[in-house]
Amino acid sequence: MNHQFSDKANQIQTGIFALLDAKKNELLSQGRKIYNLSVGTPDFRPAQHIMDAVCKAAADPENYKYALVELPELLQAAQRFFRRRFDLDLALDEIMALYGSQEGMTHIAWALCNPGDIVLTPNPGYPIFSIGPQLCDAQLWEYPLYPERGFLPDFDAIPEDVARRAKLMVVSYPGNPVCKLAPESFYRELIDFAKRNEIVILHDNAYADLVFGGRTGGSFLSYEGAKEVGIEFYSLSKTFNYTGARVSFAIGNAEIIRKFKALRTQFDYGTFLPVQYGAIAALDGPFDGVLQQCRDYEERNRALCDGLREIGWDVPDSEGTMFVWAPLPKGYSNSEQFCLELMERSGVIAVPGTSFGSLGEGYIRLALVLPPEQLREAVESIRRSGMIQP
Ligand SMILES: Cc1ncc(COP(=O)(O)O)c(C=O)c1O
Repeated sequence: MNHQFSDKANQIQTGIFALLDAKKNELLSQGRKIYNLSVGTPDFRPAQHIMDAVCKAAADPENYKYALVELPELLQAAQRFFRRRFDLDLALDEIMALYGSQEGMTHIAWALCNPGDIVLTPNPGYPIFSIGPQLCDAQLWEYPLYPERGFLPDFDAIPEDVARRAKLMVVSYPGNPVCKLAPESFYRELIDFAKRNEIVILHDNAYADLVFGGRTGGSFLSYEGAKEVGIEFYSLSKTFNYTGARVSFAIGNAEIIRKFKALRTQFDYGTFLPVQYGAIAALDGPFDGVLQQCRDYEERNRALCDGLREIGWDVPDSEGTMFVWAPLPKGYSNSEQFCLELMERSGVIAVPGTSFGSLGEGYIRLALVLPPEQLREAVESIRRSGMIQP
């Protein structure tokens, strides 16, 4: 049978990842040593008390029913957590659980966007930001993030008619892939821009707990007026290494949360109850392991960036996230070709910047998913490859 797929499904491409994967398998079959710095999955373990809570709940047959919605205990634990972590005063109807931020990011567009509505997304930016709006036939308008502006948007450069027609703006700091934080003044400008143009702000705070250089990650909702204009996503994936369990929260504007919850009742039967109990344990449990983990990521960041600079590749330190955003070294201008050559000659797998939008050209993203010793080995392998010219 000749299957006729939708235009949208046909537009989705596997692109460079399929190529990188094929190349990786080829090298592995030759017995080559690989340093896979392409994945965004933490190699750290979830804390024991979280896994214990999941196991205990999984032993109870009652917990295999449809959850339908979040347990009230989960919402209450989240309420307590956000008060402790960000000093936020959230009502229970300002919090909802998601099956991961990826899922939330995709489906929130269904609650907000009609065909033709403009959605403002960052370039370079995390690819999932555009998938939901695209599935709703919304029109994407990519706001550029330039290094000379600290990878922050220039609100004055967004044309007035675009700003007026925009429905939703997706923002994320610490940013993946740009690895930058935003100053407080940025959030005030953002809220002012959103109010003036009646734009909903969606702040993705997936890396709030991976901030380096003596700073602490904050919440968009702690700024005056934020709750009026938007919501924030906070994920347990990177903070608690609860990645595969798929728990994240949307917090903020009650009206948006209510509409989103209502829409979800049509297709979501709730998160597996043992997973919800594990999330409660994470939120109510000690936070010192998370702080230590952040220091461990920072040590990796230093091992990789210092090491690369020592061999002549001028890579800036990451300010946050679990990644490093590296401009291509001297003599290279095509990030896809560079990644393929880097893998072939050094065994280091990175993601080409173009996977995050056209303005990612000239960069690669390296994930801090190996311990410092192995990152130093990876640097040595890059040095031996001869790809870095002094
Ligand atoms: C910027 C950003 N947002 C969201 C996510 C995904 O979070 P979740 O696991 O909650 O879907 C990631 C994962 O890599 C990410 O980089």
